[in-house]
Amino acid sequence: MKHLVSMAELTIEEMQHLIDTAIQYKKGTVQPSLNGKYIANLFFENSTRTKCSFEMAEQRLDMKVINFDTATSSVNKGESLYDTCRTLQSIGCDALVIRHQENDYYNQLLNMGVPIINGGDGSGQHPTQSLLDLMTIYEEFGRFEGLKVVICGDIKNSRVARSNYHSLTALGAEVVFSSPEIWQDDDMPGGYVNLDDVISDVDIVMLLRVQHERHGEDEQHFDAATYHERYGLSQARYDQMNEQAIIMHPAPVNRGVEIADNLVEAPKSRIFKQMENGVYIRMAVLTETIQS
Ligand code: CP
Repeated sequence: MKHLVSMAELTIEEMQHLIDTAIQYKKGTVQPSLNGKYIANLFFENSTRTKCSFEMAEQRLDMKVINFDTATSSVNKGESLYDTCRTLQSIGCDALVIRHQENDYYNQLLNMGVPIINGGDGSGQHPTQSLLDLMTIYEEFGRFEGLKVVICGDIKNSRVARSNYHSLTALGAEVVFSSPEIWQDDDMPGGYVNLDDVISDVDIVMLLRVQHERHGEDEQHFDAATYHERYGLSQARYDQMNEQAIIMHPAPVNRGVEIADNLVEAPKSRIFKQMENGVYIRMAVLTETIQS
């Protein structure tokens, strides 16, 4: 695996291999090291989880880390993304982790001779989020085939929805969506349902953050209480979930909007487990791309 930019470019075998590797790292049965390798993290969009868990993964792999600061960089003098990345490659970086607001920004960077790891591109893809979600599901159920998943919320603007729709359906899960019409996306033809019609039947309730920063004029008339009533996970819906079903959310969470405040750490929630798993998945992605 030379780069990791989109879940659409991974085979089922590659996904499973990354999950198995991450689980080995988590158990401590393998002690990986990329000692002597240099990595730069370039975050052109805000991030807490992806940025910090990549850095944690890199430190655990004994890597030397350059945290590129966009605010004080020559990007502010007009330097292009290509020239910025080419600079970091020429000074000796062995891989680049990038989050950027433009969909598919990575296409211009793939022949530079340095692995590109996509930490999220606009509303395009978020492959390490999808892999950590898959790891969390696999730890819980030991399989993907036949699992029923409802993805709820701001589908159109969500790179997490796009990545997970692709990977979960490829792995044999059944995915449906629940979303206001304005945030539905026909590129993901899973079918739209009323959350109340499926809540007692699904294995995974995957909630998405309402992405206010990507909304246009016509999406500004958002009422949090109405949204929560129709598409959010309330206590009443939680009580209808089946015994083994779990809740997922990539976070950050808008508490009281996508999910009731008191349910964020409820017994069925795996939200903080997802974050924990993110470190191991990112270690697996780094070792696979840098050692290939
Ligand atoms: N889930 C996720 O990508 O979170 P951050 O935006 O904080 O990285």
